Amino acid sequence: MPILEVGGLSVSYGSALILDEVSLEVEFSQCVAVLGPNGAGKTTLLRAISRMVPSRGSIRYDGKEITSTSPHRLPGMGVVHCPENRHLFPEFTVMENLEMGAFTRRDKKAMGEDLERCFRIFPVLAKRKGQLAGTMSGGEQQMLAIARAMMGKPRLLLLDEPSIGLAQVVKEQIFQAVREIKGLGVTLLLVEQDTTMALGIADQVYILKQGRIAASGALEELFRDTRIKDLYLGMG
Ligand SMILES: Nc1ncnc2c1ncn2[C@@H]1O[C@H](COP(=O)(O)OP(=O)(O)O)[C@@H](O)[C@H]1O
Ligand SMILES: [Mg+2]
Repeated sequence: MPILEVGGLSVSYGSALILDEVSLEVEFSQCVAVLGPNGAGKTTLLRAISRMVPSRGSIRYDGKEITSTSPHRLPGMGVVHCPENRHLFPEFTVMENLEMGAFTRRDKKAMGEDLERCFRIFPVLAKRKGQLAGTMSGGEQQMLAIARAMMGKPRLLLLDEPSIGLAQVVKEQIFQAVREIKGLGVTLLLVEQDTTMALGIADQVYILKQGRIAASGALEELFRDTRIKDLYLGMG
């Protein structure tokens, strides 16, 4: 059974239809990438899954319909959203931001272990524990955003464009970390514009175009299809 099943999901902002009957499945411990240009509806898709925007259609997590679940209950159920533009608390330290990622948890001992794990994945954060988040580089802030999400103990991590606006070498560090997170067994739904980065980690790919799924399949299948390669993967 997939950990996440989205069926016929539609979202409108006013009279504008932003997502049109989007369906996708994410298998447990896989990485599914949703690729698509700016404005395709990727962020809206993640926001609908984490119930921050109203939608029509069905969203099943762990076999349970969550369309009427309130958004603040989802992290406790294992659905953690690492949002676009990071949304850190810039006036708080790295450590305080990490603690806020764990605010719904009571298992203090496991939290300590998770903190150590975050510092292993992102050693720079251990060095900067006391630094104000807003004074760090863009790449470090992105690392902190991912680490903060990991402090929420996700089973399903929704990751919105973790590499946007970063230099190539930093992107590669971020993606190496995302691979490590996948290696821990965390299921990932990753939204990206950087096709090359996403394809380096995804098991399954969906291409979102103007609010609709234009193509989907396992990575190898999409690569075999020259039309898809030309049109969507930028490698024709
Ligand atoms: N709060 C909003 N109100 C109205 N339109 C929005 C809102 N948020 C996003 N949109 C529109 O929805 C479309 C999809 O946006 P978004 O989901 O952010 O795309 P992506 O993440 O793929 O760049 C865009 O045309 C955008 O202008
Ligand atoms: Mg977006």
